[in-house]
Amino acid sequence: MARRVGLIGCGSIGGEIVKAIASGVVKAELVGLFDIYPERCRSLLESTGISARIVEGLEELLELKPDLVVEAASQEAVRRYATRILEAGVDLVVMSVGALLDPKLAEALREASARGGARVYAPTGAIAALDAIRAAKLSGIKRILLRTVKNPKSLGVEASSRRILFRGPASEAVKRFPFNVNVAAALTLASGVEVEVEVVADPSVGRNTHIIIVESNASRIEVKVENIPSPSNPKTSWLAALSAVELLRRLTGGDWLVVGS
Ligand SMILES: NC(=O)c1ccc[n+]([C@@H]2O[C@H](COP(=O)([O-])OP(=O)(O)OC[C@H]3O[C@@H](n4cnc5c(N)ncnc54)[C@H](O)[C@@H]3O)[C@@H](O)[C@H]2O)c1
Repeated sequence: MARRVGLIGCGSIGGEIVKAIASGVVKAELVGLFDIYPERCRSLLESTGISARIVEGLEELLELKPDLVVEAASQEAVRRYATRILEAGVDLVVMSVGALLDPKLAEALREASARGGARVYAPTGAIAALDAIRAAKLSGIKRILLRTVKNPKSLGVEASSRRILFRGPASEAVKRFPFNVNVAAALTLASGVEVEVEVVADPSVGRNTHIIIVESNASRIEVKVENIPSPSNPKTSWLAALSAVELLRRLTGGDWLVVGS
C-alpha cells in the first residue's frame, strides 16, 4: 500500500491533496513536492503546517523514494515526467488525463509501466458513473455523448450569450481545451469508445455542468453532474480535487469495505 507520496503541481488540486494529508483524511507522508512556481509549494506547506521537501525537479523527488507520485500540474508535465516515474517503479496518479489520449504517449507509458512494474491511476475526476460505464463496456457500448456547459470565465473565453464552442471527438477536445475537458478523456479511456463532445459557454450558469449519455447493450445511462468551481481555479471543479483525494485515500488506507467497482 502506498504510504510515501510525491506531488507535482501546487495549484488548486495539489492544494486539496496537501490539505487532506495534513488533516489525516489521507494517511500518507508527503515526502516531496515541486512546481514551476516554488513559492506556491511554500505557501501551501505554510498554510497547512505540514513539513515536506520542496524539490527542484523530478530526479530530486525520486531520490526521496516515494511509492506514489501525483501529477496535478498539466498535460505537459505528464509528457515530461510520466515515463521516468513509471520506469523508476513508482505508481502515478494522473490528473491531466487528456494527455493519455495521445496514442504515442499512451504506448510509451504502457511500456514504461511494464518495465518498472508500476501503474497509472486516472481518477474519476469531475464526473460520475465511470464504474457503470466500465461494466457496460463488457456488454458493448455503441455511443457516448458528453455535453460540458460552463460559464465563459471557467472556459477562459468571452461570451455574452449561450454559445457552442466546440463539437467533435474527445481527442480534439482535449487539445482545444486542455484544462477543461479531462472528463472527456476519462470517459474515452473507461469505455474504449471515443466520446462525442460538445463544449458550451453559457454566462447564465455558475456551475460546471457535465451531461453524459451512454448507449450500451446492457443499459442506457444518463448522468448530469453540476459542479461548484474551485475557488482558486474556476476551470477546475471542486469534485475533481476531491476525487483525487478519495483515490489517494483508497490507495493509502486500509478500509475493510470497498464500495463501488
Ligand atoms: N481529471 C479531471 O477531472 C480534472 C479536473 C480538473 C482539472 N484537471 C487537470 O488537473 C491539472 C491540475 O489542475 P489544477 O486545477 O490544480 O490547476 P492549477 O493551475 O490550479 O495548478 C497547477 C499547478 O501546476 C503547476 N505546473 C504546471 N506545469 C508544471 C510542470 N511542468 N512542472 C511543475 N509544475 C507545473 C502550475 O504552476 C500550477 O501551480 C490540470 O492539468 C487540469 O486540467 C483534471
